[in-house]
Amino acid sequence: MKTCVVVYSNAGKAFAYAQEIAQNKQAEVLRIQSRIDFKGFMRYVYWGYKASLKRSVSLKPETIDLSDIEQLIVVAPIHAGRICAPIRSWLFTHRSYLKNVSIITTHLDKENTYRDAVEALEKEMMFKFTEIQSKVID
Ligand SMILES: Cc1cc2nc3c(=O)[nH]c(=O)nc-3n(C[C@H](O)[C@H](O)[C@H](O)COP(=O)(O)O)c2cc1C
Repeated sequence: MKTCVVVYSNAGKAFAYAQEIAQNKQAEVLRIQSRIDFKGFMRYVYWGYKASLKRSVSLKPETIDLSDIEQLIVVAPIHAGRICAPIRSWLFTHRSYLKNVSIITTHLDKENTYRDAVEALEKEMMFKFTEIQSKVID
C-alpha cells in the first residue's frame, strides 16, 4: 500500500516523528509549509491566534503527487488545544480527495490526547478519520 505521511512542523520535532513513522512504513513524507511562519516567541502569538480562531493559512505549493496514495497519515501538532492551522488548511484544501486518513496529534501535555480537537475538526469537515492517535513529544 502506498503511504504518505503529511506533517507540519515548526520546531522540527513533529517532522522527526513523521520521518520515524515513514521509515517504518516505507512511506514518503510531505512536510507542508506556510508562506508565513515565525520562530521563537512570535510563533506562539501567530499560530496560537490562527488555531484558536480557526483561520486558514496560505501554504507553499507541494512537490508530491497525492493521486496514487492509498493511505495518508497526518501528523498534526496541537496549537492552543486545537489542530494547528497549517494542517487544518491542508486538510480542507484536499477535502474532496481524502479517503483513508489516519491522524496523530502531537503535543506536550501528557494528560491530554486532544481527541476532542480531532472530533471537532471531523464535524467541521464532515469527514471521519480511519484512526485517531496521539503522541507526546517534548
Ligand atoms: C503556538 C503553539 C501552541 C501550542 N499549544 C499546545 C497545547 O495547547 N497543548 C500542548 O500539549 N502542546 C502545545 N504546543 C506544543 C506543540 O504541540 C508541540 O511542541 C508540537 O507538537 C511539536 O511540533 P514542532 O515540530 O512544531 O515542534 C504548542 C506549540 C505551539 C508552537
